[in-house]
Amino acid sequence: MVEPIWYTLILSTLTLTLTLSTATPPLNPAVNHFQQYLRINTAHPDPDYTTAVSFLNNLATSIPNLQTRTLHLTTPNKPLLLVTLPGSNPSLPSVLLNSHLDSVPAEPSKWSHPPFSALKTPDGKIYARGAQDDKSIAIQYLEAIRNIFQQDPGFTPVRTLHICYVPDEEIGGFDGMDKFAESNQFKEMNVGFFLDEGQASTNNEYRVFYADRSPWDLVIKATGKPGHGSRMYDNSAMENLMKSVEVVSKFRENQFDLVKAGVLPNSEVISANPVYLKAGIDSGDGKFVMNVQPSEAEAGYNIRLPPTADPDLLKKRIADEWAPATRNMSYHIVEKGPLRDYKGRPLITATNDSNPWWTVFKNAVEACGGKLSKPEILASTTDARYMRVRGIPSLGFSPMKNTPILLHEHNEFLKDAVFLEGIKVYESIIKAFSSFEGATP
Ligand SMILES: *[C@@H]1O[C@H](CO)[C@@H](O)[C@H](O)[C@H]1NC(C)=O
Ligand SMILES: *[C@@H]1O[C@H](CO)[C@@H](O)[C@H](O)[C@H]1NC(C)=O
Ligand SMILES: [Zn+2]
Repeated sequence: MVEPIWYTLILSTLTLTLTLSTATPPLNPAVNHFQQYLRINTAHPDPDYTTAVSFLNNLATSIPNLQTRTLHLTTPNKPLLLVTLPGSNPSLPSVLLNSHLDSVPAEPSKWSHPPFSALKTPDGKIYARGAQDDKSIAIQYLEAIRNIFQQDPGFTPVRTLHICYVPDEEIGGFDGMDKFAESNQFKEMNVGFFLDEGQASTNNEYRVFYADRSPWDLVIKATGKPGHGSRMYDNSAMENLMKSVEVVSKFRENQFDLVKAGVLPNSEVISANPVYLKAGIDSGDGKFVMNVQPSEAEAGYNIRLPPTADPDLLKKRIADEWAPATRNMSYHIVEKGPLRDYKGRPLITATNDSNPWWTVFKNAVEACGGKLSKPEILASTTDARYMRVRGIPSLGFSPMKNTPILLHEHNEFLKDAVFLEGIKVYESIIKAFSSFEGATP
């Protein structure tokens, strides 16, 4: 239907008047890009990487001087986007900023706003899965570079800077950062420093992480003579397993006591948390046979080792105390990540003046008015381990202060003002890194 022109005119005037009279501030383009990205569902088990990469590619190419490449290192539905800001001196090792494309799943019924709506409340909270982990940094990197060129169109980076957007971090990075780090494209980039995601801080200081804990999956298994449920005898599988469960619990308690007493942070002790128990004979109706003591029993543990822990000592403890062969026990450890780099050094990035990258990073954060809290070990694991194992200094950092830590939780959100302040921090960091000409090994 064609509307009479006067009707359209009145309607537009009315809309304009309404827009002007309401108190809503003008839409910030960077915040808008953040919300748009959050609306792309890249949660497992079925992350839409293709749409995410296409969105980020369009965003990057709208910014002066950025070049993009999409790599397919595994299957076509797992693309990796590489964005490059070329430096004038390509012989200098480059800086790589990382953001993973995927998120953990969200249970919509447990959220106050739909997890892929990126709804913004009047006080500026943007609710979405990935708002903190880690879609904020994905957009902040790009908007920071856009701002740098807007303020100074003649800005000339000396050192090349790359941003990679990788799939599958939340499920171990095996088809993501692991494959990328092994690729020729990565070798050619000659990466000298890696900046990865961090976590929110509840106070006024930004957190920074210089190491991850390394995960082990441990299964301990007991065998023993089966017997009638009524019999009292020594060394049944159940008895042998239970003895071990007690020993591990005691160890866990001692480590946890150090945390509770404030001696060590959570991330600097060895955690050994029970995750499953398996025993009993299936009676076929979803229950268990109650009159037989089984001949096998096992328990599974999720173990996290800080880089300061001695893995050989822990292995000896497992062999001698947690699953001793003398009690007919066996064990199996799956080391899910490295503990030492290719030169046998602990996977730690120095946060003192011995590491020139640290100094550049710290000064850049402070130059824009930011404050860093004492560097920490991350209690969990990130893609940074694939860099540290190659001897590449790596820091974990997501500029979110005065923000509750909501990664992987219901109602994950980030405030627009915090998001925008983070862009300023990256402007300072990116300018500092791309102008840094210091000699680096
Ligand atoms: C270990 O298993 C053997 C063979 O079943 C059994 O004879 C022995 O008593 C068991 N020892 C312990 C400590 O469970
Ligand atoms: C710097 O930190 C590293 C790693 O923690 C440490 O090994 C080294 O001794 C420190 N160097 C100085 C000068 O403090
Ligand atoms: Zn993350």
